[in-house]
Amino acid sequence: MIEGMALRTDFTERLSIEHPVVSAPMGGAAGGALAAAVSEAGGLGLIGAGSGAREVLEREAGIVTASTSKPWGIGFLLWSLENDAIARALDHGPAAILLSFGDPAPYADEIRSAGVRLIVQVTDMAEARRALEAGADVLVAQGNDAGGHAGQNAVGTMSFVPSVVDMAGSIPVLAAGGIADGRSLAAALALGASGAMIGTRFQATHESLVPAAEIKALLDATGADTETNRVLDIARGSAWPARYPARTLRNAFLDAWRDREAELRGDLDAQQRFRAAAAEQDPDVVPIWAGQALDRVTAIASAADVVAEIVAEADRTLTRLAAYRAAR
Ligand SMILES: Cc1cc2nc3c(=O)[nH]c(=O)nc-3n(C[C@H](O)[C@H](O)[C@H](O)COP(=O)(O)O)c2cc1C
Repeated sequence: MIEGMALRTDFTERLSIEHPVVSAPMGGAAGGALAAAVSEAGGLGLIGAGSGAREVLEREAGIVTASTSKPWGIGFLLWSLENDAIARALDHGPAAILLSFGDPAPYADEIRSAGVRLIVQVTDMAEARRALEAGADVLVAQGNDAGGHAGQNAVGTMSFVPSVVDMAGSIPVLAAGGIADGRSLAAALALGASGAMIGTRFQATHESLVPAAEIKALLDATGADTETNRVLDIARGSAWPARYPARTLRNAFLDAWRDREAELRGDLDAQQRFRAAAAEQDPDVVPIWAGQALDRVTAIASAADVVAEIVAEADRTLTRLAAYRAAR
């Protein structure tokens, strides 16, 4: 990386960070070690705290606060958020709280009056409007290229981001979904975003909590091996709302039950077999969340190197694009 290089945007200014790169709050994958490493590297690292279970939040926030004094944050799932989770999160001194998949309005005042930035991830234009009305400081526009859960009617990142940017006015927007290298970060900036939130790429880092066998499956697969589905959520008895299906690697269980969701819901034996196999980490059943940019996830690296490489390549890309203009 070029010494002293930084990509400055509205978002980096607002968060007092060096680079417009955020690691996604991936439940089960993004703990305190990953968040701290990304923040130490000049991005914004987010812990994936899901519903805000006390034990997970305490443990992972403890790790991040012991490992970095730079800004970091915590992400929660709105549809399953525990009552006091925001208050407990604020006790750890995050710079930002990210809320996804539900209505952020009930929590906005509590977060913002603590001097903490409210980031809201949105999957369609109605959610974007609601987040702006709630007073979000930053929006994340998540397109359906994304790994993990996304909106049922989500469109691709390239189409969605400019629409949210136009609606958001002076509120910075991050792009999420399909960004795994510096070219796609530069593309996000070209779409009007002030940075990118990246999930899939950060799963294949030394600091992620993803089991080694699953990381290997990610490295071996491509974006074309992913599929948006509800089958694996239904099978594991997850309470995820129907309007948020998930993009996962295809596997044998998904192949067997594709387009048979109602049947699966009524087949308790099949669900029981799924859970027994999933408990053994059987790769034919276990959901491995991954996005369409998987082609560019080919090796495990440290989170710091991922941030540095993405930023350096984005910088080179911006230089390359400027040369097109000069050549005219
Ligand atoms: C393994 C995994 C787990 C995720 N868990 C969450 C989560 O708990 N909360 C959330 O808001 N988003 C979650 N996401 C979605 C991310 O916030 C983000 O939108 C997505 O990773 C961006 O697309 P990309 O994977 O192509 O980079 C998850 C994504 C992945 C890959």
